[in-house]
Amino acid sequence: MRESIAIIGSGYVGLTTGVCFAELGNKVICVDNDDSKITKLKKGELPIYEPGLDSLLKRNISEGRLEFTTAIGDASKKACVIFICVGTPPKENGEPDLSAIENVAKDIADTSASYKIIVEKSTVPVSTARWLNDIMQKYMKTDFDIAVNPEFLREGTAIHDFMNPDRIVIGTDSKRAYGELAELYKPLNAPIFHTDINSAELIKHTSNAMLAQRISTINVIARLCEKTGADVETVAKGVGMDERIGRHFLKAGIGYGGFCFPKDLDALIHILRENGINAGLFEAVREINFDIRDHFAERVTERFSQSGGLKGKLIGVLGLAFKPNTDDMRLAPSIDIIRKLVSEQATIKAYDPKAMENSKKLLDIEYCSGMDDTARDADALLILTEWQDFKDMDLTKIKDLMKQPLIFDGRNIYNKQRMQDLGFEYYTVGSGT
Ligand code: UDX
Repeated sequence: MRESIAIIGSGYVGLTTGVCFAELGNKVICVDNDDSKITKLKKGELPIYEPGLDSLLKRNISEGRLEFTTAIGDASKKACVIFICVGTPPKENGEPDLSAIENVAKDIADTSASYKIIVEKSTVPVSTARWLNDIMQKYMKTDFDIAVNPEFLREGTAIHDFMNPDRIVIGTDSKRAYGELAELYKPLNAPIFHTDINSAELIKHTSNAMLAQRISTINVIARLCEKTGADVETVAKGVGMDERIGRHFLKAGIGYGGFCFPKDLDALIHILRENGINAGLFEAVREINFDIRDHFAERVTERFSQSGGLKGKLIGVLGLAFKPNTDDMRLAPSIDIIRKLVSEQATIKAYDPKAMENSKKLLDIEYCSGMDDTARDADALLILTEWQDFKDMDLTKIKDLMKQPLIFDGRNIYNKQRMQDLGFEYYTVGSGT
């Protein structure tokens, strides 16, 4: 077994990275300053839902490759390679708050007695690693190198993404750091792209900004489809067949959510402005993303304006998480849509296979035990997350349970013809119906 590696910050990224490196045969020590989280993790209990992570966590703990601590000193004593995976939440002005990185850097410096490779994995604005280098220069008593190794993990498929990356970006001007990191990633057999530190940071922000841009583009086109009778699914398919464009991230819906895209876009906008560069492109991407949620809620309101308005109507919501296979509610489109309908005095009841506990902290609505319960006596059903369970739902039964067969599908998961044949009044995103 190789020397230990340390992971500082045991959130989505840190935990997935730590567990996967352990699975690859490394000895890993994961750190977090949240006592209760570490207590849980030591017992093999996950603080988040991520498919497949649970069994890998338990196996690697029991086979002695994975340990947890709240003390950075425990990690910096044992490990040469230290990944910083702490959060960089946005401040009011969109600028990421880097104080957690700064504190971790100082703690590493205080507790290190030998050479360290400090790897910045948290998503940060370009030039942050330079700033980190300055901090380490000031406080570190031993030799060290800095590297930037951005993550491209999607929630819900994080383990698959870690184990099967399109590329691994390693930004560093140190041969030794590059060699150590390339060796760590060698078992994955993936292309490694060696860059300077600034470019590595910008690769991450640009990737997320471009993906967000594609989603907002197709969502604007979806609105035009609704006005003109074109069909956005057909448009996206035809556009995606152009190899220069590709088919991914062209799914129209109710906009992107989650913590990464919104936060990273805000951070990019902030740093563009700071450098005197027009950030209008990305400001528009962001604005469109939030408009699209309002627009979806307005379509519901408009439909009910024909029958006395939303007051007193019972609306069943299927799906709360920002996307399937996660319990993450952070900046989920469902929050804004539900709040808007509640402000119109609709009564909302909702079901999500995983996100209801997190939703309860945000939305004071009725929570259901399943799909049937959500449909029962509802004046309309809203599909807000494309969980597989909803795709497989017995629609004939659902129709019988509802007060009227009316569905607004924010994720376009059903075949329109089939829905019509079943007798539903079925509204999708980006089509004339
Ligand atoms: C994203 C990036 O994909 C990942 O590389 C990065 O490191 C972290 O941020 P994640 O936030 O987990 O991952 O979700 P992702 O699968 O990328 O989806 C983001 C949002 O976009 C979701 O709300 C999803 O519903 C939405 N989306 C995605 C669309 O609306 N249409 C699409 O075509 C694709």
